[in-house]
Amino acid sequence: MVGLMKFFASAALLAQSALASPALATRGEGIHLFNCRPFGGAGVPQTWLSIVVYCANDSDCSNLSYSPPSDNVCVKGTSSSSEVYHIWEGSSQSCTFPTGVTFSWNIPSNAQSQPNYSSVGSGSNGYRSFAGHKDDHTAGPSYNYHSCEKVYYYV
Ligand SMILES: *[C@@H]1O[C@H](CO)[C@@H](O)[C@H](O)[C@H]1NC(C)=O
Ligand SMILES: *[C@@H]1O[C@H](CO)[C@@H](O)[C@H](O)[C@H]1NC(C)=O
Ligand SMILES: *[C@@H]1O[C@H](CO)[C@@H](O)[C@H](O)[C@H]1NC(C)=O
Repeated sequence: MVGLMKFFASAALLAQSALASPALATRGEGIHLFNCRPFGGAGVPQTWLSIVVYCANDSDCSNLSYSPPSDNVCVKGTSSSSEVYHIWEGSSQSCTFPTGVTFSWNIPSNAQSQPNYSSVGSGSNGYRSFAGHKDDHTAGPSYNYHSCEKVYYYV
């Protein structure tokens, strides 16, 4: 009987670690679409950026203290008008990183009216397909004196 109890106890532990393992998936690679506003500063020309960022470790792309290296950033749009950003939705689009890798996506026009984390279709970097989701517009990393807001992500 004691042996049986031990068996159930270790089975429960196994079940717990099996439940915990999906969290490991967040350590995989991810691609994020961000809108970034300038930190500001007198006399400095201000730009509002829309960028695609590759994170080998997806959690870095949600880390406020992280600054992606320029090789992992593809600038999709630059605007000198306050809060004017690239329109990410409504057509098949792509951006080519300094490394030569091209990421492509096709987000439905109504994606921003969907709930947070809804599916927005797939994206591809030419090596594999990624599942795209609407993000929650919270703050992500900084890039080149801009703070970035999370608009979409692909994992
Ligand atoms: C991803 O980030 C986590 C948390 O900082 C770290 O423990 C892990 O080693 C990183 N993985 C890779 C592949 O860089
Ligand atoms: C966030 O990024 C900073 C700077 O790269 C790093 O020191 C810190 O460990 C990261 N935090 C997490 C939770 O990964
Ligand atoms: C998405 O999440 C953000 C941050 O938690 C929240 O402010 C916003 O209302 C949410 N949007 C929707 C459509 O649920």
